[in-house]
Amino acid sequence: KLKACLFDLDGVLVDTAQYHYQAWKKLANTLGFDLSAQQNEQLKGISRTESLNKVLAWGGLSLPADVQVQLAERKNAWYVEMISAMTPATLLPGAAALLIELRREGISIALGSASKNARLILEKTALRDYFDAVVDGNMVIRSKPDPEVFLAGAEKLRVSAAECVVLEDAAAGVEAARRAGMKAVGIGNPADLIEADWVVPDLAAVTVERLDELFC
Ligand code: G6P
Ligand code: MG
Repeated sequence: KLKACLFDLDGVLVDTAQYHYQAWKKLANTLGFDLSAQQNEQLKGISRTESLNKVLAWGGLSLPADVQVQLAERKNAWYVEMISAMTPATLLPGAAALLIELRREGISIALGSASKNARLILEKTALRDYFDAVVDGNMVIRSKPDPEVFLAGAEKLRVSAAECVVLEDAAAGVEAARRAGMKAVGIGNPADLIEADWVVPDLAAVTVERLDELFC
């Protein structure tokens, strides 16, 4: 039975997946190459360092560690500039309504994000108070598709994995949910999220009743 929902942040509650893409693309362009939308799919859900490693590999670049640190900082500075302009009005469709319904129905809510900027985004969008627990990129060692972030969320909520639904836009996140033994709702294109139990275009399609049906 459904007891808790664990939300990814970027690309699920807020439209920051496109900001990450813009910032990585800008970095790649300054290094002399471009990134495709297909490549960007592979960057969703994974950490900043792992993302940079992939981007540099696609560009055929191997750079010293100190330069890599500078590049990651540059990308993050552009990204932080974009998220700093966010307001409570910049939530994705259905996000606020679903969080309100979950609270009303007594379903626990946790955040399970790989981002080290998660708290800043929760603050800018006034989302923090909806969450009973927050697990972000500063708190986990192994990033998605490792299940650590979601298992840590379930532990904080004191629920078992079998009672949880994860809402994710990244293939790596859907895989993490499954490896944690949780149900997974994919947000986006079914072709990118084949492992999900259910795929929807956005959270506007999700209700507590539909989530409950995943447990039948
Ligand atoms: C999320 C996003 C990734 C991003 C990661 C780290 O999982 O989907 O695209 O790379 O967070 O974000 P950060 O804000 O710490 O750079
Ligand atoms: Mg995401």
